Amino acid sequence: MFKKVSGTKDILPEEVIYWQEIEEISRKVFSLYNYKEIRPPAIEDAALFNRSLGEFTEIVQKQMFLIKNQEELYAMRPEGTASIVRAYIENSLDKTAAFQKLYYMGPMFRLERPQKGRLRQFHHIGCEVIGSGDPGIDVEIISLADKLLSLYGISGYEIKINSLGCLNDKKNLVKILNEELKNKLGQLCQECNERYKHNVLRILDCKNDSCQQALKNLGIHDKYLCSECAGHFNQVKSGLDALKVKYEVSPHLVRGLDYYTRTVFEIKHSGLGAQDAIGAGGRYDNLVKELGGPDAGAIGFAFGVERILLAAGNRPQAAGKKIIYIIPLGNQAKEEGLKLLNQLRDAGMPADTDYEGKSLKGAMRSANSQNAQFSVIIGENELKNNTIMLKDMETGDQIELPKNKLIEEIKKRC
Ligand code: HAM
Repeated sequence: MFKKVSGTKDILPEEVIYWQEIEEISRKVFSLYNYKEIRPPAIEDAALFNRSLGEFTEIVQKQMFLIKNQEELYAMRPEGTASIVRAYIENSLDKTAAFQKLYYMGPMFRLERPQKGRLRQFHHIGCEVIGSGDPGIDVEIISLADKLLSLYGISGYEIKINSLGCLNDKKNLVKILNEELKNKLGQLCQECNERYKHNVLRILDCKNDSCQQALKNLGIHDKYLCSECAGHFNQVKSGLDALKVKYEVSPHLVRGLDYYTRTVFEIKHSGLGAQDAIGAGGRYDNLVKELGGPDAGAIGFAFGVERILLAAGNRPQAAGKKIIYIIPLGNQAKEEGLKLLNQLRDAGMPADTDYEGKSLKGAMRSANSQNAQFSVIIGENELKNNTIMLKDMETGDQIELPKNKLIEEIKKRC
């Protein structure tokens, strides 16, 4: 027997109901905020991610699903932002309107060690706004994430925000860290010693106690921010305050992807254990230009859908759609049954029938397990009289009706 690949998941019909609910809420809300859906491919030129996320990021170094095809190296996309920026540039979306609000949903792939909340194929629901550096958009993006979470029915999450500043500020921060940590390397974990060489910013959000201790007294806060970036960050915070979005400034939040500048944020849920980030995002004001496009400020975020569902906890079993179940008894009745089935479906009523040749009792059992609201029995007598027997599955009441009155009668009862 074949088994699914480690770190992947079969999303079975009873769970799909919740996925559809989350997707439906998201589509509605994105549309209210005037975002348009975009669907880039799941495979891209691997170099796109090296260039966007950064050569020394964990994703590029260790987690890419690579496909070698003759001379080409493709990657199963580990995230959506780089693809969307690529699509924005390649399709000259800026020529239609330089300012674009886009959203997306779909699978992402990272070769990680699977554990609760950490998969190798997982799903993002996310959005990207390209073409503006206005702090008002940062406020919209963070408050939109907050709105979505509350509509998904999730509570107990925390929004952590920080500003990395512009490219110059980031360089300053790197310089400060290099300088301040130079004499503390012995206190840092092995991984942070590696990070010190290539990706010193990531040391800031290492969870290791002794690394945190080493960082504690550095007093970095926002002393690396230039006055413009500090002003931008202040406007973001006061916009969030005005909208009463709860957040916490977290000076050690740096995020694991190189493209970020200025505002970054992460949303954590206390009930999820080690993999507690249910979503994250931030500004990437240099990426569009870096990938060959115009000079366009941009910001976005993505939720991990599997973690959103974990955070939503056990929900009451959502009842499937009520159906009308046709039970034909005998071959001639089967043909009548098929015709009725078509009529019901054409009238917009979900309907199904027994294809397993079951007895009346067996077919009734199927009707019950399919959550049928009514069953429609066509036996010898009914065929003779051109009628059907309509049974209300909840009350058990049944009446005989002329066949052509079935739809009218069901409409009356619903
Ligand atoms: P990210 O933080 O790498 O950001 O991923 C966003 C979310 O995806 C995480 O907060 C988490 O919920 C979920 N996630 C990540 N890896 C896994 C995994 N292995 N298994 C399950 N869930 C996972 C990004 O990808 C950025 N593109 C977000 C963004 C959009 N920034 C700007 N625009």
